[in-house]
Amino acid sequence: MTAPPAPPIREPAVSAPAVPPALGGAPVGVFDSGLGGLSVLRAIRTALPHEPLLYLADSAHAPYGDKPPTVIQARAAVLLQTLRAAGCKAAVVACNTVTGLSIQALRAQHPGWPIVAIEPAVKPAAQLTHSGIIGVLATRNTVCSPGLARLIATHAAQVRVLTQACPGWVERVERGELDGPDTEAAVAAFVRPLCDAGADVLVLGCTHYPFLRPVIERVAGPRVTVLDPAPAVARELGRQLHAHGLAAPTPAAAAVTFWTSGDPAQVGRVLQRLWPGAPAVLALPGAG
Ligand code: DGL
Repeated sequence: MTAPPAPPIREPAVSAPAVPPALGGAPVGVFDSGLGGLSVLRAIRTALPHEPLLYLADSAHAPYGDKPPTVIQARAAVLLQTLRAAGCKAAVVACNTVTGLSIQALRAQHPGWPIVAIEPAVKPAAQLTHSGIIGVLATRNTVCSPGLARLIATHAAQVRVLTQACPGWVERVERGELDGPDTEAAVAAFVRPLCDAGADVLVLGCTHYPFLRPVIERVAGPRVTVLDPAPAVARELGRQLHAHGLAAPTPAAAAVTFWTSGDPAQVGRVLQRLWPGAPAVLALPGAG
């Protein structure tokens, strides 16, 4: 019997890169319930101006802060899948509520795809405080989330943490009402009690709140430090892109594209206030 002919030797794929080179030019997808995540997008733009960015505002379903966690978890899964299908090389969860409720599940759904997520700056606040009391301003869902409980137990066990839900603030930012007597009163209602209780560091635990920062600082006074983790998120994104070989290949300033699941014209009007010179907002492909 003659032996069957040996199968042809297949050449191994020639040094297949872990990531196709073209992917470096793909956008980073960033999402939030609405326009609050622009505070994170702004930090990313400053730190990584060459990265093309795709921002997705889930305006049709905002706010997330009081919705049942299962609804938010489902929306977050759909939005991440949308960004991935759009060719995004990495994603940024620019929503503390989503992070607090479902970041572990989202990462498990996308193994190997870099997902950077914002979370309240509890750790630096615990290191900074002199009074031993810190305040965390956030949505009701974040305040009650397992993610925030974990953060506090891990990084702030030695200090007193006052958590404060701030109903109405997100809607105010979504309407572009960033200042004026009504906004000041709404801010004071939740900030003053924390300061009166001795908090000397306030954590902005919702990405909408940085747009109220001037009012928050005015109400809190000069002895209180206000922390926004957005710059740390941008730095972590830069590290992740480099680690995965995904940094933008060209040094040219890159485009920012805006999508919404809501009414593009209405969202576009407030967007111009928060991101002057932004291009027209596009309707989320395939509706929302
Ligand atoms: N901006 C989001 C966050 O950081 C969500 C706010 C909301 O929609 O209630 O939590």
